[in-house]
Amino acid sequence: MHYYRAHVLVCAGSTCVTSGCHAVKEAILEGIKRHQLEEEIKVVETGCMGFCELGPLVVVYPEGVMYCRVKAEDAAVIVNEHLLKGRIVKQLLYQDPNTRKPVPLMKDLHFLSKQTKIAMRNAGLINPKDIEEYIAGEGYFALAKVLSSMSPEEVILEIKKSGLRGRGGAGFPTGLKWEFTAKARGTQKYVVCNGDEGVPGVFMDRSILEGDPHSVIEAMAIAGYALGADQGYIYVRAEYPLAVEKLRHAINQASEYGLLGENILGSGFNFNVNIRVGAGAFVCGEETALLASIEGRRGEPRPRPPFPANEGLWGKPTLINNVETFSSIPPIILKGGQWYASMGTEKSKGTKVFALTGKINNTGLIEVPMGIPLKEIIFDIGGGIVNNKKLKAVQTGGPTGGFIPAEHINVSMDYESLDELGTQIGSGSLTVLDEDTCVVDLVKFFVQFCHEESCGKCAPCRIGTKRMLEILERITRGEGKEEDIEALEKLCDYIKNTALCGLGQAAPNPVLSMLRYFRPEFEAHVRDKHCPASVCALAEGGVR
Ligand SMILES: Cc1cc2nc3c(=O)[nH]c(=O)nc-3n(C[C@H](O)[C@H](O)[C@H](O)COP(=O)(O)O)c2cc1C
Repeated sequence: MHYYRAHVLVCAGSTCVTSGCHAVKEAILEGIKRHQLEEEIKVVETGCMGFCELGPLVVVYPEGVMYCRVKAEDAAVIVNEHLLKGRIVKQLLYQDPNTRKPVPLMKDLHFLSKQTKIAMRNAGLINPKDIEEYIAGEGYFALAKVLSSMSPEEVILEIKKSGLRGRGGAGFPTGLKWEFTAKARGTQKYVVCNGDEGVPGVFMDRSILEGDPHSVIEAMAIAGYALGADQGYIYVRAEYPLAVEKLRHAINQASEYGLLGENILGSGFNFNVNIRVGAGAFVCGEETALLASIEGRRGEPRPRPPFPANEGLWGKPTLINNVETFSSIPPIILKGGQWYASMGTEKSKGTKVFALTGKINNTGLIEVPMGIPLKEIIFDIGGGIVNNKKLKAVQTGGPTGGFIPAEHINVSMDYESLDELGTQIGSGSLTVLDEDTCVVDLVKFFVQFCHEESCGKCAPCRIGTKRMLEILERITRGEGKEEDIEALEKLCDYIKNTALCGLGQAAPNPVLSMLRYFRPEFEAHVRDKHCPASVCALAEGGVR
């Protein structure tokens, strides 16, 4: 085995790829070659490190010095100063937005030091294309443990003990879902991973698939063993080509190593995984629509029951879990359900990945224990509001979620507390809104998204969202009528109670949340033809 004096990790998550990380990597490799340091220094391309705002990121180990917004032209100084002479390149360090001081070590960044990484434990640390790097970090140890020393019932019990709830949005207890599928009648069963990730602004699933594909493959095999399934499918949207490529590579490697396929680790257990690439429709993330899409049919939802646990793919019992849910499984098996349950709140256990976006200094992906106060996320991890503006609200749950107004900034980030505020954790989007945001305009955008993404199968969603959109468009043009508020409320009620699937049922959420917390602002648009945030194009008397 070859030992290196230093490792240079180059983040190659999608965001860093877009901002030129490959050119940076090539330039660093060139510099290393020029100084004949190839035997001493290894350059590793990793998955997303989470701090996307600052990409391309380069981290030099063993010290763990992080360089931000690195350009190919910066490679020479990193090589000449840091790698040759051991001197940190100050001008490329992260600068704390509040103290204005440079922070050399990655571990000292508040953005990272306040996180607990379980689902994202490997992304940004290993080369996702090298199965041995995954194995070196105890990868496939959990699969080996269940195959060699646990019964399927014991595996399910451990997941139940962990209190893990599905991270795809609904928060259904994972252990219970596994148990339902295990107990369902039928010899042919399937395991499906939902990597559709249609919510705008969230990218944790993409990041895990790109940066640590084996964690999902390993978990699916564990699920297969627990349920008695020998076939898995990973459904990924076509807009995630890097994730598809990394997954394909990982599946091939795992098969070569005997960790997928026939008689895995000599246990007699067989399990295969295939990829299904979806066309990228939001509704295809809905489980019954996703199954239809895998079967080659139009991606439309169907009424439930029967639930997929009993009648899923081709009518057979099927387990569907989200990417983040799956990637949390191997550590739970290795460290025990109790360990996972020791984090979080009474009913919301473990950690959750959030995508921080909007008017916040540190945008990117974070993984934190459930129950963390929102304030800590926004001001400590997120570094506060851009240009020190006033926080207006945080929007959670994506286009079918709701608002947490600034006065509730201390809310505990767990399923129950957000539910009480009329919003949801959803798949983990956290969009920070400052004083200049018009919530009416924003809600119009969400309703438009839901309308455009509606599959059209049921009238409440197809027509109801269109009517909501028309009213909101009128209001933001300054043509709102007094009766519009009541009409919107009625529509919300109808659609929520009659739509076929979660898309339509949840489409009214942003409108209801806005009316709950920002009614005076909404009324100002309708009655005074005035947009308090000066965003909407209102008629005479309003502000533009
Ligand atoms: C319109 C709609 C879109 C959805 N999109 C996703 C998605 O992109 N990814 C996901 O994991 N779950 C999505 N879900 C939730 C899934 O239907 C399902 O509950 C989930 O994949 C189950 O996995 P979990 O228990 O691990 O969360 C969506 C639901 C609805 C109603």
